[in-house]
Amino acid sequence: MPREWDAKTYDSLPLPHLGWGRRTLARLPLEGDERVLDAGCGTGRDTAGLLDLLPRGRVVAVDGSVRMLDQLRERLAGRLERVEVVHADLTRPLPFDGEVDAVFSVAAFHWIDDHAALFASLAGRLCPGGRLVTECGGRGNIAAVNAAVADVLGGDAPEVWDFAGAADTRERLAAAGFTDVEVGLRPDPARFEPGEQLESYLATVVLGAHLDAMADDDREPFVKAVAARLAEPVVDYVRLEISATRA
Ligand SMILES: C[S@@+](CC[C@H](N)C(=O)[O-])C[C@H]1O[C@@H](n2cnc3c(N)ncnc32)[C@H](O)[C@@H]1O
Repeated sequence: MPREWDAKTYDSLPLPHLGWGRRTLARLPLEGDERVLDAGCGTGRDTAGLLDLLPRGRVVAVDGSVRMLDQLRERLAGRLERVEVVHADLTRPLPFDGEVDAVFSVAAFHWIDDHAALFASLAGRLCPGGRLVTECGGRGNIAAVNAAVADVLGGDAPEVWDFAGAADTRERLAAAGFTDVEVGLRPDPARFEPGEQLESYLATVVLGAHLDAMADDDREPFVKAVAARLAEPVVDYVRLEISATRA
C-alpha cells in the first residue's frame, strides 16, 4: 500500500490544494445524479465539494492512507450515506462494485510511479463516455525544492516522483482507451510564511517520503536545512491538468 500521511496536520495547513480542488471541480461537468470516483481523496475536502454538486448522486472516495480516510469520515460525518469509502491502491484493480460516471483527482497522481497502470485501472471502472478530470504535479514540479534536497544530501535527491509531462501523458491516456484528451502544464508557485509554517508544510506535504526513510532525530534538521536553501519561502509547483473521455 502507499505511505501513510499525518492527516490532522495536513488539514491544519494553508494548502494550495484548496485552489487546485476548486479549479478541478469547475472543469468537471456534472448533472447532479452521477456516481463519481475521487481518486486519492485524502481527507475529503473535494469529496465534500463533489457531494454539493451531486444532490442525487454518490462519491466513491478511494485512498491508500488509513489516516487520511479516518479524517475524511470525521469531516463527512452525517453525509456518509452517499459516500463509499474505499482503502485501496489506485494502481491495482479497484475493489468496489460497478462503474463510475466520472473520475476526479487532485494532487494524487504524482505519488504514483506507474501512470500506465493507473490509467488502465481507472479506465476499467469508468463507463464509456465518462470524463476523467484531474490535476497533479507535472514536469518541472518543485525543481527548486528538489535542488535544495540534493544540496542538503550532498548528491542527487532520491527519486521520489517522476513528474509526468504533457506528451507522455497524452500517449498513456490514449493507450488506456481515452479520447478527447486535453493535457496542460501550469506553473503555480505557492508562498508560505518563512519559518514554522514553511517547515511544517514541507515536512507534511512535500518531504514526507524523504523523512519516512530517515531516523527520527535527523528529520527536523533536514527540513530546516532544505527550507534554509530556498531563495524564497515558495514551493515552485507546476500542475499537470488532464481532461479526457473514456472511449
Ligand atoms: C497530497 S494528498 C492529496 C489529497 C486530496 N486529494 C487533496 O487534494 O487534499 C495525496 C493523496 O494521494 C494518496 N495516494 C498516493 N498514492 C496512492 C495510491 N497508489 N493509491 C491510493 N491513494 C494514493 C495519498 O494517500 C494521499 O491521501
